[in-house]
Amino acid sequence: MPKEQAKRTKLVIGNWKMHGRLVENAVLLQAVAAGAATLQKGVRTGVCVPAPYLAQAQALLGGSLAAWGVQDISAHVQGAYTGEVAAGMAADFGATFAVVGHSERRAYHCEHSDLVAVKALRALEAGLTPIVCVGETLEQRDNGSTEQVVGTQLEAVLLMLSEEQATKIVVAYEPVWAIGTGKSATTEQAQQVHAFLRAQLASKGAAVANVPVLYGGSVKPENAEELFAQQDIDGGLIGGASLKSNDFLAICQAAQNGSV
Ligand code: PGA
Repeated sequence: MPKEQAKRTKLVIGNWKMHGRLVENAVLLQAVAAGAATLQKGVRTGVCVPAPYLAQAQALLGGSLAAWGVQDISAHVQGAYTGEVAAGMAADFGATFAVVGHSERRAYHCEHSDLVAVKALRALEAGLTPIVCVGETLEQRDNGSTEQVVGTQLEAVLLMLSEEQATKIVVAYEPVWAIGTGKSATTEQAQQVHAFLRAQLASKGAAVANVPVLYGGSVKPENAEELFAQQDIDGGLIGGASLKSNDFLAICQAAQNGSV
């Protein structure tokens, strides 16, 4: 394994999206807590739950090696923003992570990169780690603009943050055409974009180059190990497969196989 890759911890984060209810969550969270205990030091795991279940995640994952977080936060600190959840509120419930700029937020809630950048800053200010999602549509890939699209999305965030703040983010490359479709990017396609993003991070500062860059989009137990073995793929952001504890934990295990 290349030396550079071995230095970085692998990270496998579940993104439950708008799934789960109290009873089924309890079973899943308990399995994740138990599974996290079997992972070695080189792998960290966590789940980003719907905001109403933060307290449940805190109760059932607190004291375990698994972290938890939210799938979005407000760009505001507090105020008259009906329905929004502030980063500080998630932090009150022990959250570690806040996904920002997921393609579903960008597509269905018109979130643009400048807003995503403010959300990343708000997360950091509240002591959360923003997981900054970038990714191109199939049309953009087909017309050759993948790097331009993901580069512009990441650049907005890097411009908003100091170098020191930028060392504290996580980036997730999620090609829109691979999310929930069962059609993952090939390892070569993913590695190529990850290397591009890594170079862009490096241009912000040497330490920024080592932030985790996760791959997301139809990661399954069957394809995880090969994806995570790539030089610039530091783990995954897992949607559908994070709802099944066996699959999610098998993906965590695959990260471990790639990290030892
Ligand atoms: P998927 O979703 O694993 O179901 O493709 C990934 C994501 O949207 O984060």
